[in-house]
Amino acid sequence: MAHAFSLFPEVQPAYINGRKAGEQVKYPGTPYFQGGLKPTRIEGDVFQLETTGTIPHDICGTFYRVQPDPRFPPIFEDDVHFSGDGSVTAFRFEDGHVDFKQRYVQTDRYHAETKHRRAMFGRYRNPYTDSEAVRGVIRTVSNTNITFWRGVMLASKEDGPPFAMDPTTLETIGRYDFEGQVKAPCFTAHPKFDPDTNEMVAFAYEAGGDGHDASTALVVWTFDEATGAKVNESWYEAPYCGMIHDAALTKNYLILPMTPLKADKQRILEGGNHWAWDPNEDQYYGIVPRKGGKPEDIVWLKSTNAFHGHVAGAYENEDGHVVVDLTVADGNVFFWWPSPEDAAAKSGKPVRPQLQSDTVRWVLDPKLPSGSSVMPARQYGTNGEFSRIDDRFVTKHYRHFWQLQIDPTRPYDFAKCGPPAGGLFNVLGHYDWDSLDSENAVRDEYWAAPTCTFQEPVFVPRAGSTAEGDGYLMLLMNHLDVLRNDILIFDALNIAQGPLAAIHLPVQMRLGLHGNFVPQDEIERWAKRRAPDGDVGPAKAATEPLPWQVALQEKDAATTNGVTNGSTNGSTNGATNGV
Ligand SMILES: [Fe+2]
Repeated sequence: MAHAFSLFPEVQPAYINGRKAGEQVKYPGTPYFQGGLKPTRIEGDVFQLETTGTIPHDICGTFYRVQPDPRFPPIFEDDVHFSGDGSVTAFRFEDGHVDFKQRYVQTDRYHAETKHRRAMFGRYRNPYTDSEAVRGVIRTVSNTNITFWRGVMLASKEDGPPFAMDPTTLETIGRYDFEGQVKAPCFTAHPKFDPDTNEMVAFAYEAGGDGHDASTALVVWTFDEATGAKVNESWYEAPYCGMIHDAALTKNYLILPMTPLKADKQRILEGGNHWAWDPNEDQYYGIVPRKGGKPEDIVWLKSTNAFHGHVAGAYENEDGHVVVDLTVADGNVFFWWPSPEDAAAKSGKPVRPQLQSDTVRWVLDPKLPSGSSVMPARQYGTNGEFSRIDDRFVTKHYRHFWQLQIDPTRPYDFAKCGPPAGGLFNVLGHYDWDSLDSENAVRDEYWAAPTCTFQEPVFVPRAGSTAEGDGYLMLLMNHLDVLRNDILIFDALNIAQGPLAAIHLPVQMRLGLHGNFVPQDEIERWAKRRAPDGDVGPAKAATEPLPWQVALQEKDAATTNGVTNGSTNGSTNGATNGV
């Protein structure tokens, strides 16, 4: 019998030659928009989630995480996961109970697309593929990380400024420029927080212009938690415009791993990919002092071509050298942004390569001449990504890290699940550097089922404890067969015994990127200070356009005046800054 849908009058396909066509609200049939990656677009609240086991009662606070979830079918059929609108989830833990809240980050892009009821922005980090009606609108979707800073949640993505949200209601406060202190076009999704000084150290790359011009300018900021003041801003130059996604913080340095994914201004202007992999380029580590850095103070150390994952921990050893641990893959993880010379890419079908992604320890001498070549000090022998540590040990000597593993030797139910969306992160692992020299290096691992993968874990300290790793690890598990998720909670130092408890979500979570746990007393302490009668007062959204927006308006105004003055019919250029 014919499916009812087949009785509908025939309309044109939603995508013709790779571009959105017609009025149907229909997502592409590509893997980025189907199965585990099918957009959910859910906002809502669920009070008292269903659980199995006993949620530890000393977990009191909120686990925030953010996922890309495109609100509209994209302009381009081959759009990537990273373009999806940021949707923040808050799991509030209290007395063994958990409540759920999910809201979109209401970015400038969110408002512009709401007004038009369709996607208006084109390719990832390429404004020259956008509708003219949104010219000059900040394009970021704030979908990569969600961090707590002085009473607000900052939703961030490295292609634009952060947006502030209320930690309790998840209402968007607006674009956040640190009360007028930050004018750069971009801001990292991985700001670092020093647990001793409470400072935030953040950075931006491709920071010299509008964030889409292959600028080699870098900026590093330090913000004081007590006052909110920017206490340091230093500018540097990179050897090329490469991706610097994450960073490592020690007591005296910030280390910036630069991956040879390169931006090219001409390619961007022509509507191509922002990034292209360069298999012949070195990976770099930029080392800058945390305070008072001058342009000439950056030290760039290089090693052979590779792709950086996320940082685990970093610290300075007794020699004054910088120990930096991060996952490093032996090829282009973002294969959808291939080298222009890649034959498969030229055919329009880039292929996912088989890569190894070990946890690499670098011991870097910040006194080496810039441009020196370095080699890894050691490798743990893992194959994974999304490393996390006990955040109380950021900048300090640490032992333990947790990481999602890719283990193809475990069974995977391809028939029920199809290809694993985002990668086969099927094992959660706990590792201990201090055990690496013994016969039995710690490999404390948990595999759930042939239908399950995991999302990034977060560490939650046990109440009243200060020992490294003493606490819980929580993370989302994806049930790829039924498109549902659980949160699993583990004893952080005994992963292999299995979860202590599970929290069952009634809706599907998309593949998220990053999250963080914020203790309730911290949220409440700042809520009092941020109250209208508090000593700090409510967080203020940015009121001034960014410098690149002002420059664009002035350029457009000059063009408009030129056309108007020289025109017989008085027509003007309709370019504006959109909403
Ligand atoms: Fe990240």
